Amino acid sequence: MNANPLQISLFAEVAGAYAAAPCGVLDNESLYATVAERIGTTLEAMDMRTPIGRAGVPRSTAKRKIRWYQQTLKQLGVIEHAGERGVWRLSENAGKDLHRAATGIKLVAFSTELGIAIWGNHQDVFRQINEPIALCISSPPYPLRKARAYGGPDERQYVDFICEALAPIVRNLVPGGSVVLNLSGDVFEPKKPSRSLYLERLVLALNDRLGLALMDRIPWVNYSKPPSPTYWACVNRVQLTTAYEPLYWFTNDPDRVRSDNRRVLEAHTAQHQRLMASGGDGRNAVYGDGAYRIRPDSFGRVTAGRIPRNVIERGHVCSDTAAYRRHAKAMGLPTHGAMQPTTIPDFFIRLLTQPDDLVVDPFGGTVKTGLAAERLGRRWLVTEWMLEYLRGASEMFCEFAGFSMHECMMAI
Ligand SMILES: C[S@@+](CC[C@H](N)C(=O)[O-])C[C@H]1O[C@@H](n2cnc3c(N)ncnc32)[C@H](O)[C@@H]1O
Repeated sequence: MNANPLQISLFAEVAGAYAAAPCGVLDNESLYATVAERIGTTLEAMDMRTPIGRAGVPRSTAKRKIRWYQQTLKQLGVIEHAGERGVWRLSENAGKDLHRAATGIKLVAFSTELGIAIWGNHQDVFRQINEPIALCISSPPYPLRKARAYGGPDERQYVDFICEALAPIVRNLVPGGSVVLNLSGDVFEPKKPSRSLYLERLVLALNDRLGLALMDRIPWVNYSKPPSPTYWACVNRVQLTTAYEPLYWFTNDPDRVRSDNRRVLEAHTAQHQRLMASGGDGRNAVYGDGAYRIRPDSFGRVTAGRIPRNVIERGHVCSDTAAYRRHAKAMGLPTHGAMQPTTIPDFFIRLLTQPDDLVVDPFGGTVKTGLAAERLGRRWLVTEWMLEYLRGASEMFCEFAGFSMHECMMAI
């Protein structure tokens, strides 16, 4: 008998309970009983209640998790048995040793107690989801002239491509929920050193078509980027080399936006600590034609930390990326060509969500969004259509509670 049912992969057991039920039909009480039996515990143990949420209402967390998996499975109509020939039957060869999920195919590649990574086209997944989403954070393929191995739309298709991807997600966004997109400013007009205005067109379209309000454009400054644009900066010498990518933050309801900068406070500088310790600035001054005033006690109040500036300085170096590369190499898998450091989703998940909220990423890549969400105790749902990326990423999740991988993935 297992004393702690929460340590079990409830996702796999819920799926198994449905697979074993006559015609796949199971009412909730029978589902709880079947899952309890499958994991070797009792209904009473499963009923153990703990206070949940701000109100601290006692609820059974095990049953709650079972319902989340059950609902997700049902909504997705996820394929659980991939047949004798495994996943290869379900994939298309995308070249460069990558296998893309064939149209309509979606399979739970791996899952934990908190989240699910689905191998499939995001369109086949999010259109069927009916679950409140607190945050969508994603780094979609950029409209590059020379596409990455995983492909991507060109600049003319881009606005429709992103709007179509986000529409079903925005439909489920909670009031004040957010969408954060990591895009590229390095898209140029054909044969010119002038930049494309696709980002401006995209922002307007997201506002016009999906009702998203722009909260901020945050530069992700990365001085370790290789010098680019190669032709216009290094050969033709008319441009400067790029040091940032823009992160666009939108919400569906600015009046109720759920961000809270107290969740991302940074340590005060030594100078500011001295200022607080001395009781303030000491000066009496007016700047900006009266817009700013410094009083002797200004900056003297002791606060918990510094409110971050709206510029994110992060290099590419990331221990998760390094670990992913090691796993991919050991398994002979192609590595991903455009990974984010986990610190990017980590920052926005903390700023924009609370524990147990649902965070999604339709363009999952190596599932960095899922990794950050998992560590922060948020639920997550990520889609990625290249099998090899998910297989490499799955190794990063083995240690988390309830980890389970689809049997077909193990053959890769
Ligand atoms: C820029 S990468 C994301 C990288 C990710 N943030 C990371 O850190 O690993 C974009 C990803 O979107 C995936 N993708 C593109 N179109 C897709 C689609 N229609 N459905 C699911 N995934 C898709 C690509 O295979 C690629 O891995």
